[in-house]
Amino acid sequence: QELQLNLEQIEKGGYPHFMLKEIYEQPSAILDTFRGRLLSNEAIIKMAGVEDNMKKFLAADRIIIVACGTSWHAGLVAEYIFEDLARIPVEVEYASEFRYRNPVITEKDIVIAISQSGETADTLAAIKLAKSKGAFVFGVCNVVGSSIARESNAGAYTHAGPEIGVASTKAFTTQITLLTLMALRLARAKGTMSSSEFRHHLIELETIPGKVEEALSSDAYVKTVAEIYKDSKNCLYLGRGFNFPVALEGALKLKEISYIHAEGYPAAEMKHGPIALIDEQMPIIVIATKKGHYEKVVSNIQEIKSRKGKIIGIVTKGDVSVKELADHVIEVPETIECLTPLLTTIPLQLLSYHIAVMLDKNVDQPRNLAKSVTVE
Ligand code: G6P
Repeated sequence: QELQLNLEQIEKGGYPHFMLKEIYEQPSAILDTFRGRLLSNEAIIKMAGVEDNMKKFLAADRIIIVACGTSWHAGLVAEYIFEDLARIPVEVEYASEFRYRNPVITEKDIVIAISQSGETADTLAAIKLAKSKGAFVFGVCNVVGSSIARESNAGAYTHAGPEIGVASTKAFTTQITLLTLMALRLARAKGTMSSSEFRHHLIELETIPGKVEEALSSDAYVKTVAEIYKDSKNCLYLGRGFNFPVALEGALKLKEISYIHAEGYPAAEMKHGPIALIDEQMPIIVIATKKGHYEKVVSNIQEIKSRKGKIIGIVTKGDVSVKELADHVIEVPETIECLTPLLTTIPLQLLSYHIAVMLDKNVDQPRNLAKSVTVE
C-alpha cells in the first residue's frame, strides 16, 4: 500500500491533486494540440482528418456537434467560432437528447463528436445513429484508439495527455484549441477570412500557451477570493458571446467538486430570472473581457451592484471600468475575442479547485461522479 501511495505521489508530479496538476499542464497541453498542425511561419494549418475530407466539409449544409458535460461546453464555444470564422451553421446537441429525438439528419450533415474519453455511451450512440442516416462523423477525442475515435469516419486527437481528475480541465481547453484550428482551416478553404486575418489569428493562437501561463499566475489571488466565498450556498456565473459557454463551464466546475449550487447564464438573460436571486450574500462571477459586448456586460455589472450582489470580475489586463464597480477583479492577458475562452476559463478552474480544497472535498474523485460514463 505504501508503494501504491508513493506511485500516486510520483504521478501527481509534486501537486497535491491531479486536478491542479492538469490545470497547470494546460500551456504544454495546448502546445501539444498545436504540434505539427499550426505552422505559423508558413501561415498554414495542417490537419490530415480535415484535409482528406475537405470536399465533404465544403459541401456541408451544417455541422451538428454532439457531446456531454464539459465536452458539450467546448462544443458551444466551437459553435461561436465556426460560425464567426468559417460561416458554417452549427447546432450543438446533448448527445443524450439527440439520440432519442428522431433528429433530422442527412448525408449533407457533418457531425462532430467531442469526447475526452471517447467512451461516453450517449455520444457513441449518437454518432452511430448519425452514421446510419448517412452523415459524416468527425471525432474529437483525447484517448487514442477509444470507441468514439474508432467509430468515427475521420477525426483528430487533442493530445492533452491523460486526464485523471474527474472534473475536466485540460481536456476542455485542448478541445477548444483543436476546434479553433479546424474552424481556421475551413475558413481559409472557404475564403471567409482574408490571408492577413488568417495569419493574424495564427500568430495570436501561438501566443496562447504563454498567456495561459500568465493567467495561471493569478493563482494566489484567486485563492484569497476563494477563502472569502467558500461558504456561499449559491453562485451565479455570467458571460456573453464566446464567454457564455465559459460561464456554464465555470458553474459546472464549482458544483462538481465543491457541491455548491452554481448556475451559468448568458449575462443578458439575467433580467429574465436570476436577477431575483441577487442579494448581499450572492457572489456573481462575471466574465467581462474587453471587446465582446464589454459595455453591455459593464451595465449588467451595474445592475448587480445596485442590488448589492458581490461581484468577481474576470477582466482584461489593465481594465479600469469593471475595477471601479467589482468587489474583486481577476485579470487575464489580452487576446482576440474568439480566443478569450482559453484564458477566462483558467481563473474559474482555480477558483473551484481552491474552494473544494478549503471545504475538504475529494477534489479528484467527487461523490457520485465518474470520469467516463459508459452507461446511459
Ligand atoms: C463525465 C465527466 C465529465 C465529462 C463528461 C463527458 O460526466 O465527469 O468531466 O465532461 O463525462 O465525457 P467525455 O469523455 O465524453 O468528454
